[in-house]
Amino acid sequence: MKQICVIGVGYVGLVTAACFSDLGNKVIALDIDEEKIKDLENGIMPIYEPGLKELVDRNVQAGRLIFTTSSDEGLEGTEFVFIAVGTPSGVDGEADLRHVAAVARTLAMGMSAPLIIVNKSTVPVGTGDWVADIITENQSNPVAFSVVSCPEFLREGSAIGDFMHPHRTVLGSLDREAAEKVAQLHLPLRAPIVITDLRTAEMIKYASNAFLATKISFINEIANICEELGADVKEVAIGMGYDKRIGHMFLDAGLGYGGSCFPKDVQALAYMAAEKGRHPQLLRAVMEINDDRRRFAVNRLEEMLGDLKGKQIGLLGLSFKPNTDDMRDAPSIDIASGFFNKGATVKAYDPVAMQAASTILPDIEMKPDPYALAEGCDALVIVTEWNEFLQLDLDQIRKLMRQPIILDGRNIYNPDKMKSRGFVYRGFGRGYNGTITEEEGKAAATTAA
Ligand code: UDX
Repeated sequence: MKQICVIGVGYVGLVTAACFSDLGNKVIALDIDEEKIKDLENGIMPIYEPGLKELVDRNVQAGRLIFTTSSDEGLEGTEFVFIAVGTPSGVDGEADLRHVAAVARTLAMGMSAPLIIVNKSTVPVGTGDWVADIITENQSNPVAFSVVSCPEFLREGSAIGDFMHPHRTVLGSLDREAAEKVAQLHLPLRAPIVITDLRTAEMIKYASNAFLATKISFINEIANICEELGADVKEVAIGMGYDKRIGHMFLDAGLGYGGSCFPKDVQALAYMAAEKGRHPQLLRAVMEINDDRRRFAVNRLEEMLGDLKGKQIGLLGLSFKPNTDDMRDAPSIDIASGFFNKGATVKAYDPVAMQAASTILPDIEMKPDPYALAEGCDALVIVTEWNEFLQLDLDQIRKLMRQPIILDGRNIYNPDKMKSRGFVYRGFGRGYNGTITEEEGKAAATTAA
């Protein structure tokens, strides 16, 4: 049994701690936030993630997972320390490394035996070396240590599956022996392990996320062109994806990416490039296309409804993607603000994110289910593609609405079927998408009657 200390019980840290303990290691999860630690000791999770509570409970009961705020307890007898603290964006898009620096100082002062320090947080290229320097400068008694970069590739909503079945494990260090020891911890996951130097490992993380974000902005650009030329982007993506060099994943057009990683990582990579005098033109285009999606949604509904002043708009979904309550950089925030600014009333329903959203969007009226939301609405906007929205009784929804208008920001419905059910329906990139035609308006009115 190996002993691991995970510092930071945010999203990445908590999943990492729970999964490593489930693999049979003893894990001490350390955080300075006393309330969070107390909650975790009482089985209350700080985030919604499918399967996480069961995993945490099981391993706490087995005595393999311990929560603490004491760094002495965290470091006592530990061979590996995983740093998993937040690296938010600074004012210019650079990563803010305050928390990483604080952890490095704590380690320098607290370590009394050799340590392998593994960084999981997404940090600018070169941070591993910087952490090593901080530790060396702050050590009161010199104790040997090595720094290894092991970037996380966990998607919210499927983080446990992603941890247990990774596509690959990336490890970077100047100390090969330390990297190999960290590789041993990952052997039960049976995935390819790439061992490289520190800076390359840090770069692999940024390049991977930037590539996926580029795929999304690429398909969104294609969606725009599809609209002008009368093609359906959803079928274009299916046709493209069978080419193994392209693949089907991350080709869903719509409202674009949000969340805690893609926006921040693309921005940070562009910042690193610009700081060194490079012009990251592709990354800038990726960000610009993504920002436009949110404005686009507001303009499109205005095109469909006319003046939005006094209109009632219902948002189906608030979180940045399904199976999470995470509202960080969620498209719903900008879209709701856009509607508010145009004088509309905005209501919403989300299966799990309403509580998290209510502090960020205090003017939105939250509804208990999609039917209560639809009542009296002039339009519904699909913002997050929760599975339950595929099972809605759409006839009932249509009858409850003041006008049967749906703007589908995630292209989850079939345009022809929606039309035959009496909706005026628009997706993104699905053939013609202009103002409502007279014929469409009449057809919807006839079906509704
Ligand atoms: C991402 C990475 O996938 C993960 O490897 C990394 O370590 C953390 O960042 P996450 O942010 O949880 O994970 O979500 P992901 O499922 O990757 O989706 C990101 C965003 O892209 C979401 O807003 C999603 O709605 C959007 N998206 C995704 C699209 O708009 N189209 C797609 O085809 C796929």
